[in-house]
Amino acid sequence: MEDELVRLKSVALKALDSIEEPDALEPFRVRYLGRKGEFTLLMRKLGQAAPDDRPRLGKLANDTRKEVEGAFDAKKSELSGADNGKRSGAAPQTDLTLPGRAVPFGKLHPVTQIMEQVCGIFEGLGFAVAEGPDVETDFYNFEALNIPKHHPARDMHDTFYISGSVLLRTHTSPMQIRAMKEKPPPLRMIAPGKVYRCDSDITHTPMFHQVEGFLVDRKVSFSDLKGVLTVFIAKMFDKDTPIRFRPSFFPFTEPSAEVDIGCVICKGKGCRVCKQTGWLEILGAGMIDPEVFKMVGYDPEEYTGFAFGLGVERIAMLKYGINDIRLFYENDLRFLSQF
Ligand code: FA5
Repeated sequence: MEDELVRLKSVALKALDSIEEPDALEPFRVRYLGRKGEFTLLMRKLGQAAPDDRPRLGKLANDTRKEVEGAFDAKKSELSGADNGKRSGAAPQTDLTLPGRAVPFGKLHPVTQIMEQVCGIFEGLGFAVAEGPDVETDFYNFEALNIPKHHPARDMHDTFYISGSVLLRTHTSPMQIRAMKEKPPPLRMIAPGKVYRCDSDITHTPMFHQVEGFLVDRKVSFSDLKGVLTVFIAKMFDKDTPIRFRPSFFPFTEPSAEVDIGCVICKGKGCRVCKQTGWLEILGAGMIDPEVFKMVGYDPEEYTGFAFGLGVERIAMLKYGINDIRLFYENDLRFLSQF
């Protein structure tokens, strides 16, 4: 019986497939699916099957028949659609009074929006914009920034290596070297771009954006750095946003600082995002180390300069009150379309 069911299904589906006119549907239905049709006749034979096999065969017969019925219904609606147009001798009717379909507009990614704002503020302060490669050499990413091989500071960057001396840049600081090697002082530049680190949690992603900034001239001091960053933070956030400079260490700046702003998510009370401290680090900064100047051929006796590198996603989190940085990169339109 099983074989007969398979054969009958195949014959019926083939017959259905060859139907092109709605008029041929009813004869098909009577022949295969009608009360005295082939499926009914075959199902009558169920009584002859061994009692143990009957439930299984009964189910198989029902499923097969349902399958053919489904195909029949689909064919029927297909032909009735085609038929409408044909019989009236006109194209299927269109309701011209219906409102048009809205064209969905794309929006800039929230991180791109913040990146544009950040760059806009620094451009307003007279900084020129430069871009550099994501795939960097060990020399620009580390060596020239006073981070020789085996220096413990390399531990701070969980680096994606492409080969022994080629890597995905872990910060935008290599752009300091590229710019200084190309141009004599004075320099006032920012370098926005993607950077990569093997790091992921609610405040870290493996790819994120930084904006590097650096200014080199005669008599540049730490107070110039503080002034520029304070103006930037006041323009980017509320004027009253708390800000603090924390002593820190970077091999390419001396002295160095990290800059935190009051966590806007918990208003400084302490939350998951600021790790209960009330503060969130947004950038690293400092006075460019004389060793870096020597590396690019600037005279450290004549010139001084400051540099900073800020995390764009961190700023976006604070601006928009987002408590998990990874949301930016999940490509969920329900999230992205809110900005
Ligand atoms: C640096 O990358 C230094 N190059 C910054 C610098 C430039 C210091 C010039 C001195 C002079 P740091 O590793 O702290 O520093 O990163 C800078 C900022 O990037 C951090 O303050 C943070 O806002 C952001 N950041 C760091 N790691 C991640 C990450 N995995 N995901 C998202 N943001 C990150």
